[in-house]
Amino acid sequence: MLMIERIADLRRQVSLWRQAGERIALVPTMGNLHAGHLQLVDAARGPADRVVVSIFVNPMQFSDAGGGDFEHYPRTFESDRKKLVENGVDLLFFPAQEEMYPAGFKDVTQVQVPGISDILCGEFRPRHFVGVATVVAKFFNMVQPDVAVFGEKDYQQLLVIRRFTGELCFPVEIIGVATVREADGLAMSSRNQYLSVEERRRAAALYRVLQAASERLASGETDIAAIESAAIACLKDAGFRPEYFTVRRAYDLQPAAMDDAELVILAAAWLGEARLIDNLPLRRQCTVPV
Ligand code: PAF
Repeated sequence: MLMIERIADLRRQVSLWRQAGERIALVPTMGNLHAGHLQLVDAARGPADRVVVSIFVNPMQFSDAGGGDFEHYPRTFESDRKKLVENGVDLLFFPAQEEMYPAGFKDVTQVQVPGISDILCGEFRPRHFVGVATVVAKFFNMVQPDVAVFGEKDYQQLLVIRRFTGELCFPVEIIGVATVREADGLAMSSRNQYLSVEERRRAAALYRVLQAASERLASGETDIAAIESAAIACLKDAGFRPEYFTVRRAYDLQPAAMDDAELVILAAAWLGEARLIDNLPLRRQCTVPV
């Protein structure tokens, strides 16, 4: 596996592959890799000849008032590197902060996707999605991949990325990969390690509550507000501090209406020191005749 820190070296290598007619896939990550990330790498291999993984803990997407979230984000470079070698990755790009943001990351050009960036997680983490969209756009310009792969666990992030990719005309196909779960249903996340043993035992309740809501909707129940408030109550009973639990239209995350068939149920909730997010996409029969 090639290991590259500099943008100029990355560009040189990628253009050699391009000249040889090879297709390139990019998997952007913040490291601390788990089975969910390796699933992204797996999905990247199909449509491409070369797989590039980036590891960069992006300060622009962390909140200033985040209680040291950026500083405490788990960094496990050596074990990440080994996993990527074992999984046949061609190139690991791991730029330093000065390489990515030579002029700092505060007063620089940013990618802002209006509307969708300000709701749900965007409401609780202001400017988070500006940071995500900006860094991913920079990676797209550096690597110029044919495809880029992201997890559906970060459902809102995936929609933000699809939006700016289309609207800014990046010639990149965005591939979403289904959430990878632990045996008890908890979505894999680097943040799960913030859970104590006791919290980890309770954490899968988030998935069970999502499933219960999904079953109610699938069985034809239409009182979405009642489903949402029952779910919030269940999460509180299980010791969570919910930020939101909501049923939305799958394609733009606006509140779901009676005749929307493609839905997604999304939740964010704190358990101890860990902020967990999860979602369940759902296709239901139209309840209003068209
Ligand atoms: O999902 C993540 O790990 C990050 O938000 C991403 C897409 C790598 C951007 O920093």
